[in-house]
Amino acid sequence: VPEPRSAVASLKEYHPPLGDRVGLRLDFNENTQGCSPRVLERLREITPDDLARYPERAPVEKTVAAFLGLAPEQVLLTAGVDEAIHLACEAFLEPGDEVLIVSPTFAMYEVLAAATGATVRAVPAIPNFQFPAEVLLASVSGKTRMIAIANPNNPTGAAIDPALLIALAEMARDVVIFVDEAYFEFYGRTAIDGVQRLPNLLVARTFSKAYGLAALRVGAVAGSSLMISALRRLATPYNVNGVALACVEVALADQEYIREYVAQVRAGRDVLQRELLRLNITSWPSEANFVLAAFGGAHREFVDGMRRRGILVRDRSSDPGCDGCVRITVGSDEHNRRLLTALDEVVRELRQLRGAAQ
Ligand SMILES: Cc1ncc(COP(=O)(O)O)c(C=O)c1O
Repeated sequence: VPEPRSAVASLKEYHPPLGDRVGLRLDFNENTQGCSPRVLERLREITPDDLARYPERAPVEKTVAAFLGLAPEQVLLTAGVDEAIHLACEAFLEPGDEVLIVSPTFAMYEVLAAATGATVRAVPAIPNFQFPAEVLLASVSGKTRMIAIANPNNPTGAAIDPALLIALAEMARDVVIFVDEAYFEFYGRTAIDGVQRLPNLLVARTFSKAYGLAALRVGAVAGSSLMISALRRLATPYNVNGVALACVEVALADQEYIREYVAQVRAGRDVLQRELLRLNITSWPSEANFVLAAFGGAHREFVDGMRRRGILVRDRSSDPGCDGCVRITVGSDEHNRRLLTALDEVVRELRQLRGAAQ
């Protein structure tokens, strides 16, 4: 029987809990409202001929590059940020190389870096999930080949000044600094300006979150033309499907939709955080479309109670430093109102149960 490479054989399996997601999905940081109506219109125009032909990425890449203020050779379209991480790891890592991540963070950095045979070292973001800039910099060694950072971070929502990431890229010139801006639209600040002068900086974006197109699997990675040409050599020519490519231009053109949705999320996030504070539940500042909150020993009961009310939230208790934590996605005004009602009911119910047991 053919054996996979040892780095692959020893990978931890990562199975996001996708089964049975019936109800209001506040568990995957998706857009809860649905994409711009202009994208749906474009989808309806797709013809059999469009589906029969192999997709052409380059013209759409040009549009995305212009949108990002970059040249087409500085941008590669990918099947979401996930593929951008995969390509960056495959292009730049070798067995024995070291990759630094800040924990807790998005799981795919560790999986895809480890698959190359590289060693992943996690620098804990403690206390309070703040970015451990000094420890991270002090952890860079001659073996360090990549640092992967989500800004804002998942599952914490913590964000750092992009200037700090640009400074990091300036200080660690031999290290690929992979900045994952999947939640950029909710934060509004970016490291993408650094791409023009820093040959070691990659910045990834996605249409999966604010744009509401997670199912289409499309994103982009920006970097120096040298680094992007390495990723382009590795990418398969039809990595982004034609349906997704057909939607990207109209999705980008409808920035009014993004502004309106992001405004709902930001307002809903503030209300949720105030409500958690009122209920005496610890939560952390977030610049993304979700909030991490600590339910202590009751985290499972909280997730179950919400599910019984038709709302899915994500237990993150087993993430490093996240004991008892649940991540709650924030969505449209209407969905946020449903969330708050259920949150109050479930917390009251859990406290009554605990009171009765004492
Ligand atoms: C930090 C971060 N990066 C990347 C992704 C995946 O994005 P995409 O759908 O573009 O692959 C997620 C999704 O949860 C995420 O939280």
